[in-house]
Amino acid sequence: MIKKGIILAGGHGTRMSPLTKAVNKQLLPIYDKPLIYYPLSILMLAGIKDILIIVNKGQLNQFRKILSNGQRFGIKISYIEQNYPRGLPDAFILGEKFIGKDNVALILGDNFFYGQSLTTKLKNCRKIKSGCKILLHPVKKPELYGVAELKKGKKVHSLKEKPKSSKSNLAVTGLYFFDNKVVNYSKSLKPSKRKELEIIDVLEKYRRNNKLTAEFLGRGGAWLDTGSIDDYYSTSSFVSALENRQGLKVACLEEIALNYNWINKKLIRDSIQFYGNCIYSQYLKKLIQ
Ligand code: TTP
Repeated sequence: MIKKGIILAGGHGTRMSPLTKAVNKQLLPIYDKPLIYYPLSILMLAGIKDILIIVNKGQLNQFRKILSNGQRFGIKISYIEQNYPRGLPDAFILGEKFIGKDNVALILGDNFFYGQSLTTKLKNCRKIKSGCKILLHPVKKPELYGVAELKKGKKVHSLKEKPKSSKSNLAVTGLYFFDNKVVNYSKSLKPSKRKELEIIDVLEKYRRNNKLTAEFLGRGGAWLDTGSIDDYYSTSSFVSALENRQGLKVACLEEIALNYNWINKKLIRDSIQFYGNCIYSQYLKKLIQ
């Protein structure tokens, strides 16, 4: 059972500039809460309580101010600064000590997941003992993503990065579950032409050893990448539409923790005090009434 998770929350944020010049992308709002709440909620829904957040150099205090050490959510959050965005597998090199001898999940800080049975799927992915499991989702434009073709069942047959043409429309999303080999695999990588360590090179090592399997979010689920301005606002509208229709919040971290019995009502009251008089606090108040 995977007990540790990493959120990669650094990056250039070039596509979102000038919004990201002074503020980390993951701290910008998606409707009513900072973007980082959404990937963090995914790890929490999976049942992962020991979480490392990797941030850009100099931005650690911004994250600490809102998430602190995770106690408010009944989890443990630690942080590491990344000197510059060296590529996604850098998470496992920087996080080597945090990972230790354990298996680990990785989620990209700007990825948004939502859908029916998502929690059950996440809990199943967490069960991997060896190999790597990726989450796939159909996309209209496979040429913009890393794309997987499957063998029979859930084994991955081939991986292609931004293919000009592909039989598959299944994109590799930004949520991955790895065994401990990921640390050594990442350390053995050489930077690509764009001078980054590439996650697809790590996945390829697992695939060659017949150890790469897939789970599907399914067409009832949503995977949105919030990295460009338009996608970012679409995600915000999606959350606003859902929350205002249902009266339920997406990615309310305190609610997830309360439902899992990780926190008690007293900690919710502390959160209400922390946030002050706002709609989010009113929602928390209703949870404990
Ligand atoms: P990218 O898709 O590379 O996005 P980015 O934030 O760097 O933005 P842009 O492409 O517009 O310059 O990264 C995906 C996520 O992973 C994003 O949330 C940032 C994070 N990331 C890191 O934290 N460290 C890294 O070294 C890289 C490459 C990304």
